[in-house]
Amino acid sequence: MTGRQALAEIFEPGHALDHIRLAREADVVVIAPATADVMARAAHGHANDLLTASLLATSSPVLFVPAMNDHMWAHPQTVRNVEHLREIGYRVLDPDDGPLAIGEGSGPGRMPEPEAIVAHLGRLLESDNTLRGRRILVTTGATREAVDPVRFISNHSSGKMGAAIAAAAWRRGADVTLIAGHTDIDLPRGPRVIQIDTTDAMARAVAGEIGAADALIMAAAPADFTVKQVSSSKMKREGGAPSLDLVETADILKGVSSSRKKGSVIVGFALETGDAARRGEEKLRAKDLDMIVVNDQNEEGAGFGGDTNRVTLMSRDGKREELPLMLKTELAEVLLDRIGAMLNGS
Ligand code: CTP
Repeated sequence: MTGRQALAEIFEPGHALDHIRLAREADVVVIAPATADVMARAAHGHANDLLTASLLATSSPVLFVPAMNDHMWAHPQTVRNVEHLREIGYRVLDPDDGPLAIGEGSGPGRMPEPEAIVAHLGRLLESDNTLRGRRILVTTGATREAVDPVRFISNHSSGKMGAAIAAAAWRRGADVTLIAGHTDIDLPRGPRVIQIDTTDAMARAVAGEIGAADALIMAAAPADFTVKQVSSSKMKREGGAPSLDLVETADILKGVSSSRKKGSVIVGFALETGDAARRGEEKLRAKDLDMIVVNDQNEEGAGFGGDTNRVTLMSRDGKREELPLMLKTELAEVLLDRIGAMLNGS
């Protein structure tokens, strides 16, 4: 698959020092799938084959990606081996819970998906440690307010921006909670995800987390209005178009000011359709934010849905930074640089 020779033998003629060379060359070592056997041998410092010998010889980070039968994973001997591997500094993922080999039912033992392995590799290889150990709360996506059992009011938010921020913050070593409404994308692997539906549920989820958060990045697009009287049965065409009585939802950002942790950073977004700078400035003050990310839905490449954005960052201290058009994944990195600097007082 890699186009390179697979190495299996230790001490093959002419290759006696392969385990040392491989150990030295690797920036990171990934063992996937990691069987119960290889973890047992690694936990006991065996070096009787190329893999375990290379493990002892390397000083790079090591990632074990277990895959085995659920009884083998749950066996006290495996549990002890995994604990020991973690104690001595190896990273051992928990296996996924789901269908196992044919006829073996379902349980914890499935090998984590490639996306999860790549995300963990990113975190292991990350050298920027400004957010390491910080608790970062991110919201993303659109909330939905029910009209009747089959209809709802919502908006076009794709969730891409918040997902990119959560993924990048987690890669930088933060402890990330992502509160997600409806999104059009796969949510990142790594962050703890709380999935919610309505603005009220998002407000409650944020209230439950904000006290411990070093930063809140409110990239979600919560619905501003909810239906006063949700119909318990599907509204019918007969009788003509109904009129909906709407009431305002809670402004989540406004509500967090009083319960935020001292020294924390609160970041909001403002998506406008014209006069973006002035409106953004107003929201920064009205919502008592440390920074607001202002973008204009009418601008090419900006706003909901796409992979890019063009934003202006405005800070509490009056600083204003106009950023060029960039990928949302790139913007996530810039935002985290600024948030890291604010958290570390620079
Ligand atoms: N926001 C929030 N609670 C809501 C609505 C929005 O906390 N009920 C947050 C958004 O996540 C965003 C910021 O407030 O970070 C600004 O959202 P925006 O929709 O631009 O502003 P609104 O305050 O809803 O004002 P308007 O829609 O009238 O422009």
